[in-house]
Amino acid sequence: MERELALEFARVTEAAALSAACWVGKGDKEAADEAAVTAMRVMFDTVSVDGTVVIGEGEMDEAPMLYIGERVGNGTPPEVDIAVDPLEGTNIVAKGLTGAIAVLAAAPRHSLLHAPDMYMDKIAVGPACKGRVHLDAPVKENLREVARALDKLISEVTVVILDRPRHQQLIEDIRRAGARIKLISDGDVSPGVAAAYENSGVDILMGIGGAPEGVITAAALKCLGGDFQARLCPEEESEVQRCHEMGISQVDRLFTIDELVASDDVIFVATGITDSFLLKGVRYNKRRAVTQTLVMRSTSGTIRHIEANHNLDRKPLFRDHRIKLLIG
Ligand code: FBP
Repeated sequence: MERELALEFARVTEAAALSAACWVGKGDKEAADEAAVTAMRVMFDTVSVDGTVVIGEGEMDEAPMLYIGERVGNGTPPEVDIAVDPLEGTNIVAKGLTGAIAVLAAAPRHSLLHAPDMYMDKIAVGPACKGRVHLDAPVKENLREVARALDKLISEVTVVILDRPRHQQLIEDIRRAGARIKLISDGDVSPGVAAAYENSGVDILMGIGGAPEGVITAAALKCLGGDFQARLCPEEESEVQRCHEMGISQVDRLFTIDELVASDDVIFVATGITDSFLLKGVRYNKRRAVTQTLVMRSTSGTIRHIEANHNLDRKPLFRDHRIKLLIG
């Protein structure tokens, strides 16, 4: 994939973030999601790519836009798989909390795992810890390895976990091992990626979250040289069936980062909606809005932070949207 594509994708996540940001704290996660999806979909049409959504808003009959299998881009090569989450953290935006991003990942066709929409057990670390942790290893052993790799005491290692009852045992084990914990209300992509960033305040992400978000996190960690391992956690027979339909015969198998993202040519782009471990959220100033976007390409290893200052009056998509919000 050409490097220009990464910058084109940045415009796509910026559009989604700008649209979703108008809904921060308004208590309407559906409207926020719809705004992000619509903006992302519209902006995709301007990108020179022949993309197929492999991780998106759901199946064709569930989602009007960015559904799995939908073709996006203007149809010119390269042919790529696209994983999107126009609004990662719908509750976060509805409540005006931290951690929401608009995100997408792209890789050559047939290289991203078509992850079913179910839970996934995950472990994410940065480059220094690559090869030193294992999803099935005891919690204490993993944390000891992370501490050694990062030249820290276990008591200085920070683990991020979704604040859910299902993580009670994991939280107890981490506390017993002596590590620090940051519980998050939603949005495990951003801390998963932040685990590979020095001084982000996150050393490791653990626990069960969404499988689609797992593939997106794996794509980012591929760009950053980090590690990610995962296992699907179907909760009912229909989800097991779904895995089979999607070509995953051994449902309880462990996926390595290279199986989730089977290419070394990956692009990852994310724009902050609200402040997060990775990025600042959208900030408004008079008729303008400032966005922060992270753009990464695995082939070059370049990590780019783009701060853009948008004139909202010159962007019909947002101008009309703001008018709609103003008049209710
Ligand atoms: P949405 O953006 O779809 O609301 O999901 C956000 C999220 O918090 C993910 O980051 C996470 O992987 C998943 O939901 C966790 O699911 P659950 O809320 O069911 O525990």
